[in-house]
Amino acid sequence: MELPRGMRDISGAELRGIEKVRGQFVRLAGLYGYDFVDPSPIESLKVLEAKSGPSVRDEIYAFRDKGGREVGLRFDFTVGLMRHAAAQRSMPLPAKLASFGGVFRYDEPQRGRYRYFHQWNVEVYGPSGQAADAELAGFVHDMLAGLGLRGASLRLSHRGLVESLLEELVGGCTPQMMRAMDRLQKRPRAQLESELASSGLGPAKAARVLDVASVSGTAGQVESQLPVSGLEAWAYLRGVLDILEGQGVPATADLGIVRGLDYYSGAVFEAYAGGPGALAGGGRYDALAAEMGRPELGAAGAAGGVERTVMAMSEQGLLGEPPPSGARVVFAEGMQKEAMALASKLRSRGVPATADISSKSFKKQFESARASCRHAVIMERGRLSVRDLASREQRPVSAGDLLARPRDYLPEGPA
Ligand code: HAM
Repeated sequence: MELPRGMRDISGAELRGIEKVRGQFVRLAGLYGYDFVDPSPIESLKVLEAKSGPSVRDEIYAFRDKGGREVGLRFDFTVGLMRHAAAQRSMPLPAKLASFGGVFRYDEPQRGRYRYFHQWNVEVYGPSGQAADAELAGFVHDMLAGLGLRGASLRLSHRGLVESLLEELVGGCTPQMMRAMDRLQKRPRAQLESELASSGLGPAKAARVLDVASVSGTAGQVESQLPVSGLEAWAYLRGVLDILEGQGVPATADLGIVRGLDYYSGAVFEAYAGGPGALAGGGRYDALAAEMGRPELGAAGAAGGVERTVMAMSEQGLLGEPPPSGARVVFAEGMQKEAMALASKLRSRGVPATADISSKSFKKQFESARASCRHAVIMERGRLSVRDLASREQRPVSAGDLLARPRDYLPEGPA
């Protein structure tokens, strides 16, 4: 039986990788003082459109429910959390909310681009600016570093800066220019340049737009290539970079980072570390708070693509097979009931333990225990012993002693 296009089952090493990312995220969000919220997976279509425009319908799962209501599946956490936060009139500010879970997008499926995938997500609300943006970018860095990913790069830009620059250099800034800048990392420059030129911009200006998107490096390197010095948005971005430097977080300016989603209005950032494209991205989107009726509420956030992060971890050999763990009660013929009772008592003492439930012979039970378990508890008539399956050491034990001090006989951790 087939799944709908773009859908898939997640299992094995990938699912273990997702759990690893989730564990790291929950730990880090706790260190940073975030409160968790799981926003509704279904939103009114008008809420999703309010922030992303009616064209968002084509990019998401949208449908009528059985009551005739127009709804859509969440495509990120930012919109739902903003709707939630906007309704909390007495929420102390700044407020920091975190989410982890699955999101849906009607994207064209390809490597690292799915129609259902997981995100970790953090948002900060309140009348804040550079400090919140820098803390969020630092969170992204800590997330990737904490997972052991090497060679991660954190790149920052500013929507307002790009708009001012294009205004000055080519006389305006259109969504089409932003889109071309966003695609420069993935598509050949010549193709983008000719598309832009033929849209009425002309070849010289089209080249200039893509020149801007190609500028990256330290603040000094950007200043030597572009007329940014007097611009307010540049001063803001420099401030964010300064705070990051003070925290020891390596980051660069990259004018090619404009972000695909429409709601951003200020500083934006993305992180890369191998894998297929950006592993995380975010930025400031104060205008969305205003659209949701809370103009006094500033908002910025970041989200990471969990499957892509797992792919990058796998490329770097960070997703090994789990070491053998737990105990298997291996029993002689006719002793299944006693073996299951012993496994149950071990579990109730917090020790992972199972007994065969599929009528395997003694020998087969042993073979299967050796494949995945750290210990075998061998149950024969009138005799009980514990075997370390790595060192092959075996020692007799009484049921009373084993249950009184199970960890003395079945220690956790590597063999
Ligand atoms: P985004 O850049 O659209 O931002 O998504 C964040 C991350 O999700 C991306 O960097 C990428 O790793 C992953 N991702 C995006 N689309 C797909 C896909 N189709 N398949 C697999 N992974 C994907 C946001 O979602 C914003 N809400 C981030 C944010 C939070 N901005 C402010 N607050």
